Amino acid sequence: MEIRAEEIKNNPNRPQHVAIILDGNGRWAKKRGLPRMMGHNEGVKTVREIVTASAEAGVKYLTIYAFSKQNWNRPKDEVSAIMSLLLKTAQREIKELHRNNVRLKVIGDKNDLPNEARDVLEQGIELTKDNELLTLVVALSYGSRDEILRAVHTLAEDVKSGELDPNDINETLFGSRLDTADIPDPDLIIRTSGEYRISNYLLWQAAYAEFYFAEELWPDFHRQEYYKALLSYTQRERRFGKTSEQVSI
Ligand code: FPP
Repeated sequence: MEIRAEEIKNNPNRPQHVAIILDGNGRWAKKRGLPRMMGHNEGVKTVREIVTASAEAGVKYLTIYAFSKQNWNRPKDEVSAIMSLLLKTAQREIKELHRNNVRLKVIGDKNDLPNEARDVLEQGIELTKDNELLTLVVALSYGSRDEILRAVHTLAEDVKSGELDPNDINETLFGSRLDTADIPDPDLIIRTSGEYRISNYLLWQAAYAEFYFAEELWPDFHRQEYYKALLSYTQRERRFGKTSEQVSI
């Protein structure tokens, strides 16, 4: 039976923040005898569909793993084609995001990105900064260990300069030095394409996240598959280390 957006939106247990590892673009193309880039082009359409579906279902934060730090090691041709696709997509979609009251954020090491793409993204972040319907977080040149180390370096610098007492380092302060400062932890992490790995994604932030693994390749992951994942989340009990009796009070 079809799951409607309202069904999720009216459910008080719906996730506030969904983070997705989109996987399977290459295999989608290969299965059809097409070049890998055709899978990435198709993957962008799915991103669009899932952004809309998230807004309609009342999800407040959607984080997508668009390009990892490790993805730079792919063949040169594929990396440069993905960077062109990123630029083209950002140029085309940012106004549309803004019209729809979506705020754009980027996590990851922006310094690694080609200048033109970085500039377009930064303008988009500025343009959409007050939007409230949904925050779309795009992880680009992102690796969680890299993010954690960059946070550690800022703390170490502050200790070295005498601005920070090491005893004052706690979870809140540490979290505020991550790229995700101001973004709540993900409630649900979805990975597509039948792979069961975390792949250096939001390691600190995922401490209490629920996981959902979908068999579909990313370009085949449509609104209904997504809503199935959200509905499954609403039926779970999150205990945060407590007992079932404690959390059901
Ligand atoms: C996942 O499939 C693909 C990536 C992680 C890289 C490119 C991502 C996109 C084009 C989608 C969003 C992009 C933008 C520009 C916002 P894979 O290549 O790892 O698939 P495979 O495991 O089947 O090879």
